[in-house]
Amino acid sequence: MSKKKTVLDIQKMKNDGEKITMLTCYDYPMARIMDACGIDMILVGDSAGVVIAGHDNTLPVSMEEMIYHTRAVMRANPKALVVSDMPFMSYQVDIAEARRNAGRFIKDAGAAAVKVEGGVNVAPVIRSLVDIDIPVVAHIGLTPQSIHRMGGFRVQGKRAEQAEKIMEDALAVEAAGAFALVLEGIPQSLARRITESVSIPTIGIGAGPHCDGQVLVIHDILGLCEKYSPKFVKRYADVREIMSGAVHAYIDDVKQGIFPGEEHSFN
Ligand code: KIV
Repeated sequence: MSKKKTVLDIQKMKNDGEKITMLTCYDYPMARIMDACGIDMILVGDSAGVVIAGHDNTLPVSMEEMIYHTRAVMRANPKALVVSDMPFMSYQVDIAEARRNAGRFIKDAGAAAVKVEGGVNVAPVIRSLVDIDIPVVAHIGLTPQSIHRMGGFRVQGKRAEQAEKIMEDALAVEAAGAFALVLEGIPQSLARRITESVSIPTIGIGAGPHCDGQVLVIHDILGLCEKYSPKFVKRYADVREIMSGAVHAYIDDVKQGIFPGEEHSFN
């Protein structure tokens, strides 16, 4: 039986040139499936607010919701390294609150690490969490919690001075002790430069092929999210179609008196 993945295993994968796979997950059955497939890392993303709860963005997501999703994932006892996303306003107010909230993910929900969005601006928070032995994944580039500053979900770092700022963010979160770095929505050339400049693994989403690993939202690869279809998503299945077929068949069976049959009934 393979053992649970740790932050050391993830670093070793970068050192060995082995690509790191990460998917988002929010519940027990999906965690069982992706873990059995051998995914390296599971992100309990605050994208839950969009793909599960139906919000337009991640800003309304609460700590309680993220704890609920993390606990559901952890009940699958995954071998993958589980990272919980710290929701908007759970780490921005002050360091004591950031520590308390990050600690809940580890102590009450069972995650192995947390993720925070931001670079130079959140480096002190990252340092303060790492100092109390909470491993941190940083997230820079297109940071969905900054939607109002960015004016929408736009590729970041296309202009030279913006690219330099993102490079500074990468170096700052590495220096603060983050063990991995999500690069979202940036040009592939910038992602390559960052990946070559930092010693921690980079995990890309909409950042091209030169990162140490890749992450996608599970609902996107399964074709379960009709709201958005970003260019960077590859759809591996049309589960919506499969589900619709099953629900239609059930409705037809019940309407026609075909279900329940003798085999589904008690005597
Ligand atoms: O919440 C999320 O799903 C994320 C990924 C997009 C990296 O942060």
